[in-house]
Amino acid sequence: MDGGDDVDDPLSRAAAEAADAADPLAGFRERFVADAAGVLYLDGNSLGRLPVATRARLAAAADEWGDRLVGGWPEWIDAPERTGDALAPLIGAEPGEVLVCDSTTVNLFKLVGAVAGGGALVTDRGNFPTDRHVLEGIAAQRGVALRQFDGEPDAATLPCGPGDVVVLSHVDYRSGTVADLPALQAAATERGATLIWDLSHSAGAVPVDLRGASAELAVGCTYKYLNAGPGAPGYLYVASELQGALRSPIQGWFGQSDQFAMERDYDPVPGIARFLAGTPPILQLAAVEEGAKLTAEAGLAAIREKSVALTELIVALHDEWLEPLGFELGSPRDPAVRGSHVSVDHPRAWTFTRALIEAGVTPDFRGPDSIRLGVAPLYTSFAEVFDALEALRAIAARDDLPDAPPARVT
Ligand SMILES: Cc1ncc(COP(=O)(O)O)c(C=O)c1O
Repeated sequence: MDGGDDVDDPLSRAAAEAADAADPLAGFRERFVADAAGVLYLDGNSLGRLPVATRARLAAAADEWGDRLVGGWPEWIDAPERTGDALAPLIGAEPGEVLVCDSTTVNLFKLVGAVAGGGALVTDRGNFPTDRHVLEGIAAQRGVALRQFDGEPDAATLPCGPGDVVVLSHVDYRSGTVADLPALQAAATERGATLIWDLSHSAGAVPVDLRGASAELAVGCTYKYLNAGPGAPGYLYVASELQGALRSPIQGWFGQSDQFAMERDYDPVPGIARFLAGTPPILQLAAVEEGAKLTAEAGLAAIREKSVALTELIVALHDEWLEPLGFELGSPRDPAVRGSHVSVDHPRAWTFTRALIEAGVTPDFRGPDSIRLGVAPLYTSFAEVFDALEALRAIAARDDLPDAPPARVT
């Protein structure tokens, strides 16, 4: 039976409702702005929802600008470090090791540029495009080799040696596979390479322990599971031991010691702030801080537990409803190595995505054939997942659905 009210059937709506009733994080759902149309939102892995507290905080930050004008700067100026300290515990870093600034792309450029020497730049061919593009650019500028390997990163076969710089995503943006961060870090270090992690699809959803794994460098974004809003600044992590030895390739005045002395040659500040470039976005930093606070309040252990339960439900509904309609699971079956989204693949994925959006369900599409269903445990409910999958099943079962036009923006 499916779609029914038998609570003993784990694939019934009644069971989903019971899971919601027992969910210790259920109360967090109302801490987010609910959209009037009641969209079923499974795209928090692209852009998280707006926390209610953030809306108020942004209004207050705008008022502060209006009231204080340039007099506000003495309090605003430390926001990238302060916000980094708020984010640090969510990725296993210490205070003073995380800076919130610029985009993930720019932060990756800064870290690769700070550590690259004559060795090769290494990444997997399946890594997120911006990561590969940054490496392509730096390799061309410096005349060093770019080595892109096929398949998922594996500690036993990681193709790097002394002086190489490796960039890996902790959670794969397409499949949601979680890389073995401690093992890969150990392998890179043992081979004399420097490894930079991209945590964009982890932070706020999948626990990360950078210091526990002796990780040296990382970047990530805040607008996904940290709910900091469109275009919110990303972050970078530099282990404290390394900071003094590294220089950002973007030497800006916000990383300069005695910044307002104006006349002096570049001499970067001692700590993490040396990776600042230009004026920080004070309003959106306030949103990052609120997002980090909300995540910390819920706790990553509880978030991860619910994320696993939600993705298990998606996998079970895929097997029961979607596989018979020609879908394939594009994510790991083992929840231990699955992040907070599940990809379900079908040759008509784009057409189904358009139809889902029309039906009031927001998934995410990644070409050529993947529908990503992201769950954000602070606001995604079990009933929401159930209803979204039921809508997808109904759409995929139609034999009269015309192909959607190819143009798309996602
Ligand atoms: C893994 C990963 N890295 C980097 C980015 C891009 O970051 P930004 O556009 O903020 O530079 C994304 C965006 O979705 C991503 O998923």
